[in-house]
Amino acid sequence: MTKYFIKDLNIFTSEEYNHIFAINPELTPLHYKFKDFEYWIIRDVLVRPEEANKFILDNYAVIERESENNISHHPNKQLVYPQFSFYKIKEFLMRFVNDNKILELPNIDYRDQQIRIKIDDSWVTYSNLAYKNVKIKNRNHEPHTDEFTLGCNLFLTQNGVGTSLFKKKYYDELIISDIEGFNKYGQDYIDYMGKYYRDRNKDDSIINGWANIEEDDNWKRYHIIPGEFNTISMYRGSYFHSPFISDDLEVNEIRHNLVFGYCSPTSEEEEQHYNDEVKKWNYKKKT
Ligand SMILES: [Fe+2]
Repeated sequence: MTKYFIKDLNIFTSEEYNHIFAINPELTPLHYKFKDFEYWIIRDVLVRPEEANKFILDNYAVIERESENNISHHPNKQLVYPQFSFYKIKEFLMRFVNDNKILELPNIDYRDQQIRIKIDDSWVTYSNLAYKNVKIKNRNHEPHTDEFTLGCNLFLTQNGVGTSLFKKKYYDELIISDIEGFNKYGQDYIDYMGKYYRDRNKDDSIINGWANIEEDDNWKRYHIIPGEFNTISMYRGSYFHSPFISDDLEVNEIRHNLVFGYCSPTSEEEEQHYNDEVKKWNYKKKT
């Protein structure tokens, strides 16, 4: 996908920029924990969410695209931002995730410039823009997992959106995440999913308009995480999920969420998060 920036970020002073993206000082996560999954919600994240939404749509809008689809599993437009665009939010999230024990993170010296560069690198930031009338190709409305350890979606849309969570039908089992699948079935699971994704990528039929899956031969939806205006939802990137749009979204309204994905910077750290997850849900090897 080609990225176009109508204006150069440099024309905004950091003061203006920090004013628009100021975060509320007192934030607490709501932890939703169920029998076999969990997520966190943070309400009223930005002080000026309308301004932030407008700023992004006015200044980063994609004017043109190489093709109707991008390589991600998001069926719509995706804007990737330059380095350090949202550094303050990334640092805030990092502290927040650590302080609230959402992930066990190593001790970090935030004053060190080299570390700041590493923090910036470990958070992937982009905007997902979706509409009701989108064209779906390669069945990319079907669930996917993210490459990040933890996905955080800051929703900037007023009406009826969220994230659908799914379980993958795997023989006579339902699998909630890649961590569960791999831990129980190892390479067999990887091969099985590899074939599933290849088959789906080969399917170039077009679906007109957004489609929310409830249940089909491959998937069973078990929950919808609400995407309320100015809230962040956080969940494991290894959970199967897809964007959700309800009938409440206006035809011309954009489902806009600013995604912050945390990718563990070292394989040791990632292994630690993986093991924590296996332990938490008590996944046992089956083969
Ligand atoms: Fe995703």
